[in-house]
Amino acid sequence: MKPLLWALYLLGILVPRGLGYDGSLTQQRQEVVDEAASPWRSLETYNYNKYHPVGEIYQWMNQISEKYKEVVTQHCLGMTYENQPMNYLKISQPSHKTKKIIWMDCGIHAREWISPAFCQWFVKEILQNYKNNRRISRFFGNLDFYVLPVLNIDGYNYTWMTDRLWRKSRSSHNNGTCFGTDLNRNFNASWCSIGASKNCQDLTFCGTGPVSEPETKAVSRFIESKKENILCYLTIHSYGQLILIPYGYTKKKSSNYEKLIQVGQKAANALKAKHGTKYRVGSSADILYASSGSSRDWAQDIGIPFSYTFELRDQGTYGFVLPEDQIQPTCEETMAAVLSVLDNVYEKYWHSNCAGKVTSTSVVLGLLMSFVSLLYPI
Ligand code: ARG
Ligand code: ZN
Repeated sequence: MKPLLWALYLLGILVPRGLGYDGSLTQQRQEVVDEAASPWRSLETYNYNKYHPVGEIYQWMNQISEKYKEVVTQHCLGMTYENQPMNYLKISQPSHKTKKIIWMDCGIHAREWISPAFCQWFVKEILQNYKNNRRISRFFGNLDFYVLPVLNIDGYNYTWMTDRLWRKSRSSHNNGTCFGTDLNRNFNASWCSIGASKNCQDLTFCGTGPVSEPETKAVSRFIESKKENILCYLTIHSYGQLILIPYGYTKKKSSNYEKLIQVGQKAANALKAKHGTKYRVGSSADILYASSGSSRDWAQDIGIPFSYTFELRDQGTYGFVLPEDQIQPTCEETMAAVLSVLDNVYEKYWHSNCAGKVTSTSVVLGLLMSFVSLLYPI
């Protein structure tokens, strides 16, 4: 292959399907030029109803942080095993006060493509609405959002290039005889005690030690350094239609079990109200399976008050290969669930007494006043 093609391909500008193209060199060049010049004209034409290869997601992050400079900054959390930058977006209204943090990561399991699609949807929704939507704008005074759209970049890239159903990272083990650690078994939470394997050939290989992988190191270091301010740790997976709370490594209930279930159940109700999709809420050990070393359990153990795993659609019909026509409804309903969690977290920290509650009379009065002030500006 021509060096130019390779360079473009590595930059993610030429998507993999272009590589198998069997046309003449001129046609190939034309295709490269077209895609290089504008894979999508601007953010306005980015298609949130499609899955995107990693290069396009990097480019999307650049465009998002450029377009919404006043509230978005892009940062690098660390590098993956294959030396790819783990970029995240910080969405924050500039202010001098220390704000609380909502963390969301997607794509820790490579094949769960709906997950990075949701992180992108979430960012888009927040940014399109924070100015005019009261529900979202009120969060901004007290909360910052940190979104990592693809945690396991190496694995995600591998699912596009080689094996659609790859789950793990791509680190090499046993003299290059087997590849990949299950990054969601590699965190320092009762590491490799249950529901994980020490055999590197297995799907749930827990790595060579707790936090042995560069990706989990990067996330752990960052979360640890900010843990006093993090209210919510949300990690997005598929599939199963579940809202999972700690723990996976024990059947014992966490100290805040009741509250987590209550907030989770409200989120599941909000989700169902959108398109009728049913979710179950419970601890991973109770309603999915036992698992040790998950990021959710680790976040709980270091004291983060609300730690959830979302297992998005479906229930096995398509499984990890959820058709693109389900991206929109899945993201819409998941958005409703996440906003419901945020409402509850927000209420708990900033409106925990009657002072924050508004009566319908005061709402009507408020609307009347603003209408009058429109007619008769002072
Ligand atoms: N995302 C899940 C995990 O972290 C996979 C669950 C899919 N399997 C299932 N039977 N629902 O392991
Ligand atoms: Zn998963």
